[in-house]
Amino acid sequence: MLTIDRLSFSYGDMQVLWDIDLKVNRGEIVTVVGANGAGKSTTLKNISRLQKWHSGTVTFNGTDLSRLAPHEVVACGIIQVPEGRKIFPEMTVLENLRMGSYCKSARHDREANVERVFSLFPRLKERQKQLGGTMSGGEQQMLAIGRGLMANPRLLLLDEPSLGLSPLFVKNIFEIITEINRQGVTILLVEQNVYQSLRIAHRAYVLETGRVVLTGSGEELLNDAHVKKAFLGM
Ligand SMILES: Nc1ncnc2c1ncn2[C@@H]1O[C@H](COP(=O)(O)OP(=O)(O)O)[C@@H](O)[C@H]1O
Ligand SMILES: [Mg+2]
Repeated sequence: MLTIDRLSFSYGDMQVLWDIDLKVNRGEIVTVVGANGAGKSTTLKNISRLQKWHSGTVTFNGTDLSRLAPHEVVACGIIQVPEGRKIFPEMTVLENLRMGSYCKSARHDREANVERVFSLFPRLKERQKQLGGTMSGGEQQMLAIGRGLMANPRLLLLDEPSLGLSPLFVKNIFEIITEINRQGVTILLVEQNVYQSLRIAHRAYVLETGRVVLTGSGEELLNDAHVKKAFLGM
């Protein structure tokens, strides 16, 4: 579905991605794990075209993304849920969700998608009239993912959804990601929570200072000596 081939990217003079190769097949949960600053968010921003890579190729179902503007990437069905949630604090929960369905293909399904999001996140249904900014961190993360689902994603890009959440919410968020995938959405997840994200991943990549250093099934990487030592404190 998504093929990244030798992607390199620099912020000014500082190169932060080096020849990244990565594939996401339809139906998978693929996880990219790596420490803070490894280049996880930059990789997602390049896929979304919020940053423009200078060498390499990224294709989605055969379409070369290098020619597309960010809104055209969204129209292809690639939807990014950004790090730090970035919900609209002065809008209600329901208004935030509706903002996710501005693109033509999703407008049509707006009411059905609201119901779908409410069934995944009953808490959002209860709080639909509450202002987004007054929700807890975990609730805002649910809202950010819900808003992403409103756009009818074919590929959902999730940037550190568990960051800053209490342990109970963390467990809940990973269960929900698995459920969204079961409902037919392909997922590319980037995370610093290496244990939880490898547990739910079909396949995974380890990113270190802008390079893919290891790849395998989630289970293989959970049992890998380097991963255990570098990320799991074992
Ligand atoms: N807007 C930016 N301008 C300059 N450097 C940046 C910018 N955003 C990120 N970086 C740098 O790029 C590297 C990768 O960052 P990032 O992709 O955010 O990593 P991660 O998401 O894995 O924490 C880091 O060294 C970071 O400091
Ligand atoms: Mg990041």
